[in-house]
Amino acid sequence: RKGRRKTSRVRPYIEMIDYLRHIGIEKDLALPSIAVVGDQSSGKSSVLEALSGVALPRGSGIVTRCPLELKLRKLEAGTGWGAVISYRDVQETFTNPSQVESYVRKAQNMLAGDGVGICDELISLEITSPDVCNLTLIDLPGITRVPVKGQPEDIGDQIRRLILKFIEKKETINLVVVPCNVDIATTEALRMAQGVDPHGTRTLAILTKPDLVDKGAEADILQIMQGKVVPLKKGYIIVRCRGQSDINENISLAEATRLETEFFRSHNHFSYLLDEERVTTRCLANRLTKDLVEHIKASLPSLTEQIQIRLSTVRLELKNYGQGPPLEPGKKGPYLSKRLLEFSDQISDLCRTGAKGEGN
Ligand code: GDP
Ligand code: NA
Ligand code: MG
Repeated sequence: RKGRRKTSRVRPYIEMIDYLRHIGIEKDLALPSIAVVGDQSSGKSSVLEALSGVALPRGSGIVTRCPLELKLRKLEAGTGWGAVISYRDVQETFTNPSQVESYVRKAQNMLAGDGVGICDELISLEITSPDVCNLTLIDLPGITRVPVKGQPEDIGDQIRRLILKFIEKKETINLVVVPCNVDIATTEALRMAQGVDPHGTRTLAILTKPDLVDKGAEADILQIMQGKVVPLKKGYIIVRCRGQSDINENISLAEATRLETEFFRSHNHFSYLLDEERVTTRCLANRLTKDLVEHIKASLPSLTEQIQIRLSTVRLELKNYGQGPPLEPGKKGPYLSKRLLEFSDQISDLCRTGAKGEGN
């Protein structure tokens, strides 16, 4: 009951933005969204998998080669799983979660070519299921420094430019994925997010791989969580996803969620963060939904204003064209001859005076 009431407060906002995106508003206006950024292998896909319950393409090297918009829509319990993938003029529907990977790969090969290139055309994947949260996230290629075989020399710059296009918009919440076992202060993704959002008001950092923290380094992670290393208004959340060995052992995503809670509950240093709701994928999903809806609410006045401005410009333009032709069959003839006469008068005027006429 409580869950349903919560869902209905959230859904209309997210669906309105999805609808505006669907009818192509984004060509004119930026819409609120969540972009996922991080270095290669930082755990972006794993976080998205945990949030969506769907296995995404993974592997070493560049896997995400086009921006992938992942629209998650929660359905009533008992309904089946369904997906629609759209890009360019392709739209395909499927009903088996195990097909996601091959459909996404096919789409990427079509847009970015077979191989290791990237492309900034959007692939949109909508997933409807009782087991997902109501969120729309955009997965972006991971940041790399060194080109691999077959990649252009400037692949790093190409990826950075693509990421910037998404994260620089003030309508975007930037979800920065950083592994616990690297030096956070030197992380390129966080540096980029700070560059476009210096006060950290729309940047949320996810710390991944907490099981790989060196013994004795836990205190450093807690310093980061307290905002003492890189302060962010939205702060940090730690998640524990499936490592390579979990995948090799066929640990399901559902089982991994259970193991994640267990991991934090029994952790000597991190367990208190469980009560504070600053760890686990479930907390991340709740936080993101709340943040996205707040972000949409805050963006509404400026969205409305921008739409109003566009509308009055178009209305003015329309007014300059004057009255359109009448719809009644009997009146079309007289209307046409009247317009022709007006036109020929204007031409005569023009020939006589050489002055510029007002109409066209
Ligand atoms: P991406 O390149 O940023 O999308 O990173 P992936 O999600 O593909 O993850 C890179 C590797 O890190 C994969 O082998 C994952 O299984 C592993 N990984 C992700 N999250 C965790 C975690 O919490 N713990 C451990 N041990 N490994 C993880
Ligand atoms: Na990867
Ligand atoms: Mg990935």
